[in-house]
Amino acid sequence: MLPQDPSPSPLPASAFPRELFAGAYRRVAFFGGIYSNYLALDRALDLARSLKVDAVFALGDFGAFGPHPDRAVEILRGNGIVSIQGNYEEALSDAAEDCRCGYVDPRDNHYARLSFDYTAAKTAAPHKAWMGTLPRHLRMTLGDRRVLCCHGSPRRINEFLWASATSDAFLRKLLDDYQTDLLICTHTGLHWSRFLEPASGGSAGDGRPAGNGLLARHGRPARGIINVGALGRPANNGRTDVWFAIVEAGDDGTRIEFVPVAYDHARLAAEMEREGLPPEFRETILTGWWTTCLEILPAKERASGRY
Ligand SMILES: [Fe+2]
Repeated sequence: MLPQDPSPSPLPASAFPRELFAGAYRRVAFFGGIYSNYLALDRALDLARSLKVDAVFALGDFGAFGPHPDRAVEILRGNGIVSIQGNYEEALSDAAEDCRCGYVDPRDNHYARLSFDYTAAKTAAPHKAWMGTLPRHLRMTLGDRRVLCCHGSPRRINEFLWASATSDAFLRKLLDDYQTDLLICTHTGLHWSRFLEPASGGSAGDGRPAGNGLLARHGRPARGIINVGALGRPANNGRTDVWFAIVEAGDDGTRIEFVPVAYDHARLAAEMEREGLPPEFRETILTGWWTTCLEILPAKERASGRY
């Protein structure tokens, strides 16, 4: 098990409800939407351990899309991974009618309905109850940086923070309103980062990496956003890998590493077929291109995919 405080203390007199203070760290892994991809989750945990992180945190959406939703939850709970709610955990623990994903297009909602109905039927009641106990946000420190972790955005669990649609001014407002230096989120399924006001070196642009091992590095004082992407489905780039992020407080600033996770995606696709999940979902797992739930994409992100 990774060294990690299994019982973070509540923030005293926090101005923000349902937050936990998780502690002080130097090098941390963040897992975004898992979407029942327990094979990738298992591999990502091995990778994070080999990359010597202090702790791993999961930012919600454990179910959806993939097969056997209890398996991912059991890996998280069995390893004591401190987790927050995504829209899926909120919806499942509330016995909601739908996933509260935030889609607006009928085609997106059609496939979201198939995912949610399957996941709701296959998730054990004790796991749904556990999801209802999870905090909404985590706060921590990485070196001298204050960190706020959320699922979509700090103001709404299912807000999509896309690289192309998140302005510097809006990001600055979120950081100010929620009293943090770094905002760490998921929900979109696409990993990216941007830093504001780098003191030296670094870039204020889109930090989305082109490949394995690329390290984004930014000078102090680091303020910005890291969308950690998803372990559940590929990043709509024609690669079957899925992604998580490592954030480290170094002597020369904050470093981000987006880590690709290769896993047995053919096995996952075969299990999805046996479970009766849509062939369009399997195609995404096998090709790395999104086929569903992509009407929500802004034009720039849509243009970089196949469909
Ligand atoms: Fe989500």
